[in-house]
Amino acid sequence: MKKIEIELREKTYPIFIGAGILRNFDKIIDASFKNERIAVAADKRVVKLHRQKLLPLINMKKRKAEVFLFDASEKNKNLAGISKIYSFLQERNYGRDSLIVSAGGGITGDTAAFAASTYMRGIKYVNIPTTLLSAVDSSIGGKTGVNFNGIKNFIGTFYHPEFVIIDTEFFATLPADEIICGLGELVKTAFLAGGKFYNSLYNSIEEIAGGNFKGIENIIYDAVSFKAGVVASDEKEKGLRKILNLGHTFSHAVEKESGFAVKHGQAVIFGIVAALSLSKNMALVTARDYASKLEFIGKIKKKIKVPLISPEILYDAMLSDKKNRSGRIKFVLPGMPGNAVIDAEADKKQVLKAIVTAYNYFK
Ligand SMILES: NC(=O)c1ccc[n+]([C@@H]2O[C@H](COP(=O)([O-])OP(=O)(O)OC[C@H]3O[C@@H](n4cnc5c(N)ncnc54)[C@H](O)[C@@H]3O)[C@@H](O)[C@H]2O)c1
Repeated sequence: MKKIEIELREKTYPIFIGAGILRNFDKIIDASFKNERIAVAADKRVVKLHRQKLLPLINMKKRKAEVFLFDASEKNKNLAGISKIYSFLQERNYGRDSLIVSAGGGITGDTAAFAASTYMRGIKYVNIPTTLLSAVDSSIGGKTGVNFNGIKNFIGTFYHPEFVIIDTEFFATLPADEIICGLGELVKTAFLAGGKFYNSLYNSIEEIAGGNFKGIENIIYDAVSFKAGVVASDEKEKGLRKILNLGHTFSHAVEKESGFAVKHGQAVIFGIVAALSLSKNMALVTARDYASKLEFIGKIKKKIKVPLISPEILYDAMLSDKKNRSGRIKFVLPGMPGNAVIDAEADKKQVLKAIVTAYNYFK
């Protein structure tokens, strides 16, 4: 088992990574919490696929947890979904000494964490991510939230868990397109981090895409360590942390305008290609670097499906992105590794051209 400490101003908490480590859940809980009542917010599909694996969460020796089953989809990641969790807890008299454990992907985690951060002004929270995407990205960094009026993650808080348990055995049942989603965020990290991580993902991306998770612990360890470092230096996303939104201005527009038919991680890969193209046209990356990054994504590009949406429509959706200031679209654009450009602005013509280039690339 590997362990990473996330060191923040207000608290430090561990992330455990390993195959089968959920079996020790009882011990970890007993060591950290004496009296807390526990509610597990679990993705229905994960419960169905991993009932045996989840039993240590529910039937602990000293206490039993009650299970709230969550139907994980972007359409349920909203205030109505939050209300259901509040009601579940209130009807069972969960008080301030309670703990919510989420077991599921990023949708379950973001929703349960938001509920934990607001129920009775905040109760404790533990995250057990079960998708590759949630393991390497959404479970790290304390962003919680739900969609509002069709805008992704519009309502939310910054709230950190007591710990995160990444049990890589969950990944065995991930559908191929969910693996690609996780790879979307990993490619983003590789482009930002460069160096050793870039090379190791470059060398293993096809195997992971094919469902071979040998060595995934090291990949996760490096990706989480990178994100942890960025988050620790800028907890509330005032500066450096914005680099983690590489490709996301485009991807949020694609998700929204496809009615969330395109999944987050897949939209991120499309968004990274559009951002790369914009970077090249603004001379932020060299032609050589541009070509080598496209070659990297080329290893999985056949698995990315983004329906054709008019670039004008995507542009209008980007204008309504919550990260914009004074009506201007702000992009995070790839520079040379370790040098992403934040708060970049581009004129409309360049943005439309970048979208067309991305569509042509994935054709
Ligand atoms: N908080 C953050 O910092 C942050 C960062 C990135 C993404 N996000 C959010 O995360 C969400 C996407 O997360 P996601 O991709 O994990 O989505 P998800 O939670 O919808 O999971 C994807 C699908 O996989 C299923 N699933 C989960 N675990 C499984 C398993 N082990 N085996 C088989 N199927 C399984 C789910 O039921 C779902 O159908 C988006 O809403 C995005 O906005 C948040």
